[in-house]
Amino acid sequence: MLPFCVLSLLLVQTLGATDVPIIGILSQETFSVNSLFPGINYDSFIAASYVKYLESAGARVVPIMIGKNKEYYKELINHTNGILFPGGATFFNQSDGYADAGQIIYDIALELNKNGDYYPIWGTCLGMELMVHVALGGKEVRSHCSATKISMPLEFKSDFRTSKLFSNAPDDIVEDLTNLDITYNSHNYCLTEETFEENNLLKDWQIISTNKDVNDFEFISVFESKKYPFYSIQFHPEKANFEFKSSLILPHSAEAIKSSQYFANFFIEETKKNSHKYPDWQSEQEALIYNYSPHFTGLQNIQ
Ligand SMILES: *[C@@H]1O[C@H](CO)[C@@H](O)[C@H](O)[C@H]1NC(C)=O
Ligand SMILES: *[C@@H]1O[C@H](CO)[C@@H](O)[C@H](O)[C@H]1NC(C)=O
Repeated sequence: MLPFCVLSLLLVQTLGATDVPIIGILSQETFSVNSLFPGINYDSFIAASYVKYLESAGARVVPIMIGKNKEYYKELINHTNGILFPGGATFFNQSDGYADAGQIIYDIALELNKNGDYYPIWGTCLGMELMVHVALGGKEVRSHCSATKISMPLEFKSDFRTSKLFSNAPDDIVEDLTNLDITYNSHNYCLTEETFEENNLLKDWQIISTNKDVNDFEFISVFESKKYPFYSIQFHPEKANFEFKSSLILPHSAEAIKSSQYFANFFIEETKKNSHKYPDWQSEQEALIYNYSPHFTGLQNIQ
């Protein structure tokens, strides 16, 4: 008994913990939203729904700029408790863009985790695709598919309960995700099991669920790293509670919102396991996204 207790104490001391996590959200190029900001030339953006989603689980957010050097991302990771790669629409081949920043961030986070730190990364939709892109050092392995404006249940793998993401998930959440059309898909690229096999990803990553697009093309909808706190989902939980464009046909049922909250809570609890923080109050306040005002696009958002 004694050696185990001593080890636990040591681990807690090494990793530390926080109950006030700060999460970085990676921004992206504005190709997909330029028409929403007539006359303004923004360099990058973050959809407000991702910020609200993390805040609803008890986190604060800092924006991560694209096009910065390695020192910037290193410092950002040292000061935050986890990172979210959001969905959206941009190319992976733009120099100094979303994918380049993602690669630098992933490489630093992987190294930290390998050295015993606990630094989570979450990828949603394009962010999920980015996770695989950077895990393979910048390889384009996505397949074309068609899954836009569709809500579906997850098709869980038989061993999904062995995953970190679902080993402690309440039964009602799992039942809802298994039976109801509550995971909202909006993507024209997919990742497949064959791709994971061909690229030797299955030894490090667990496929947790799959789905089929409109042409019955099967794609991976949830996966996680077996060793590190890296999680990815192809659907959009944040839209259920924080996006309201009627032409998108989003799910807003109590079950959709409850499952969305499950994913947010899970990720934020993971980020509480390290003790990264800003060196002082002033630099923390200056970094937070509260320094930026959301820009309401509803009036440009033609239904
Ligand atoms: C990036 O990829 C897109 C789509 O495949 C292509 O249209 C574009 O020309 C590429 N841009 C660069 C800078 O290579
Ligand atoms: C990481 O941040 C802490 C403050 O929270 C600081 O003391 C430390 O020097 C930083 N480490 C590096 C490598 O920048």
